Amino acid sequence: MIPSYIPYLDLQPHNKRFAQQDLKTFKEIHATGKLIGGEWVNKFENAYASYCGASHCIGTANGLDALTIILKAEVALGNLPEKAKIVVPAHTYIATFLSILHAGMQPVPVDVEELTLTAQVLRQVDQSYDAIIAVDIYGKLVDDEVYAYAREKSIPIYCDTAQSHGAVNDRGVKSGNLARASAFSFYPTKNLGALGDAGAITTSDEDLAITCRSIANYGRSSRFVNDLVGINSRLDPLQAGFLINRLPQLDTDNQRRVEIAKFYIKHLQNNKVRLPSEHFIKNNVVHVFPVYVGDRKLFVDHLDQEGIGTSVHYEVPPHQQKALKQWNHLRFPVTEKLHCTEVSLPCHPLMTLEHLQKVVQAVNAY
Ligand SMILES: Cc1ncc(COP(=O)(O)O)c(C=O)c1O
Repeated sequence: MIPSYIPYLDLQPHNKRFAQQDLKTFKEIHATGKLIGGEWVNKFENAYASYCGASHCIGTANGLDALTIILKAEVALGNLPEKAKIVVPAHTYIATFLSILHAGMQPVPVDVEELTLTAQVLRQVDQSYDAIIAVDIYGKLVDDEVYAYAREKSIPIYCDTAQSHGAVNDRGVKSGNLARASAFSFYPTKNLGALGDAGAITTSDEDLAITCRSIANYGRSSRFVNDLVGINSRLDPLQAGFLINRLPQLDTDNQRRVEIAKFYIKHLQNNKVRLPSEHFIKNNVVHVFPVYVGDRKLFVDHLDQEGIGTSVHYEVPPHQQKALKQWNHLRFPVTEKLHCTEVSLPCHPLMTLEHLQKVVQAVNAY
């Protein structure tokens, strides 16, 4: 049966699939009395490191902290200067910028070419910088050529993988194993989402892993010894347990998201609605399926009347936010156009063919 309204995303049926397992997990953790760290966190970290193909995974409280901790750890290790200049794509969520500021560093925002950072964009940066944070926006992996460029120039590159859990490149390398270190968010709406805030860092560099783990836990090297100025940003055992329950489903869910995107690209036909290019599907787990329209309000209202919920990623780019005044004068035409015209269509694993047909019909009738 087709529901009268298809919400942009409804987490209730999504999480219902794991309800039995989650209750069992809750009871088990409740019974252990071990409510910070411990075997559930270790078990998830090992499972997720192995899933990504990285040597280490360090659980954190959220994705923003994961990014910030990586940068702070690199300073502690002497791999980045204290006020490092970090190239960051303008087309991202504000968290990427904030992590740089929270680490006491300076964002060097650059425009994107179509959606993500490219080697061409990096070649045009006209000032010196110390490192790059790439962002797998909407679930699409940043092109291999960006990593090749960073390697060639010996510039450390980190990745904001908050939206790309499980994405694989052409060489079979997964998100979380492409950059020197990657930062995941398990915010509930993500492709791998917890039942609250959660995040993780993956890396195959042992020193970086040890330092990140220490910074996430008050800068401790052992119980009463604090070598670094750390923070409290630990993955909660309950969230770790819920994530363990969801990890085996991730690939199937991601596959379904890609099928949905392919369906949209094949069937959406409306001159007033620009679709992402064919290239969009490549190396992508489609966290977000974007379309672009001239009059966003009119389009969103039309879909709403047709019983289709939508979202926007995002309305205002970080460099135009009041909180980031220092960058307000900068202009990034590609990013600004994306942010003015983007509408996200429903794209989640539980959508049926009938749901998709209803969305297509409504978009094509606009
Ligand atoms: C691209 C990007 N980076 C970073 C974050 C921050 O993650 P969190 O909300 O878990 O701190 C998010 C999620 O909101 C995100 O989408």
